[in-house]
Amino acid sequence: VNSSQPRLTSTAPDALPDTSPSTLSLQQVLAQALDKTQNLSEARITQILAHKLPAQPEALDFASVWPLAAYSLERASQVQAASPEAQQRLLARLARGRFVEAYQIEKAGMSFAAKMSLLAESIAEQKLYSLFASEEAQHFHFIQGVLGDDLPNDKDPFITLLHELITHAPRRPLQFMIQVVLEGWGIEHYTLMMKACQHPGVRPALQRILQDEASHHSSGVALFAEADLSPAEATYTLEMMQHFLQLVSIGPVSVLQAVHEELGGLSQAQQAVFWDETQAKSETRHKLDLLQNLMHKAQAHKLLARLQAQDAFALRC
Ligand SMILES: [Fe+2]
Ligand SMILES: [Fe+2]
Repeated sequence: VNSSQPRLTSTAPDALPDTSPSTLSLQQVLAQALDKTQNLSEARITQILAHKLPAQPEALDFASVWPLAAYSLERASQVQAASPEAQQRLLARLARGRFVEAYQIEKAGMSFAAKMSLLAESIAEQKLYSLFASEEAQHFHFIQGVLGDDLPNDKDPFITLLHELITHAPRRPLQFMIQVVLEGWGIEHYTLMMKACQHPGVRPALQRILQDEASHHSSGVALFAEADLSPAEATYTLEMMQHFLQLVSIGPVSVLQAVHEELGGLSQAQQAVFWDETQAKSETRHKLDLLQNLMHKAQAHKLLARLQAQDAFALRC
């Protein structure tokens, strides 16, 4: 037997599962064998990572991590009228939703840092993004541990936008959209999550993530120069900002959706009351103002002026 022959062929009879060929196609059998190989290699990688990363947290009672006030729900009459059990279910769902979102964001953060490292224009820049990649991997490791085996693959419109950016955006628009805008936005989001967190194991981890995100954001502000964007890059950045602002301007719809589904459905009139009681409009206004301030801080004056001229920072809720 030629020693360069593919290993799968020579070991196939032992490696293949004991299944009748008449019920499984060759592709299915190969896919099963490949799965097994990948799982073995994943188990080895997990062992190696265990020496490099801290132990992941114990399983959490999601409902205990944040109180109703962390979602501006403390004055919502429909929530106050719900049974304690229903309130706990709602709190658990909302907390899990935050971790699921963080899971997707930190996973995207690892890909972002790797892409920016490959696109770097100097060795110093490559070092910077390689350090970011390590930090994002640590953030991801923590969030993955919190979620345990219940790992998400659902994508909301925000995560879809994030994936579009990381897959297709060139270096400079990526620097602006991810580091300046989304990581700047993330600082506020993680700060609110950290301050209201009631869980002693989660709070310090959020604090650590927050510190790292603040440094990722500030380096983005320092490195970005609007004048360096080509006309095509400026147009692309503008389009992506328009998408993002649309998602923000419609208000906290995922919280509304969770209340709607967990507490048995809200009528149109109840939804309007809910919007008032949770101060959805003023909180959304604050978020849109924050995004304008981030653009101002990065001196993205032309992009900001074009978005303002299109009324892209207007409330739509
Ligand atoms: Fe991160
Ligand atoms: Fe980051």
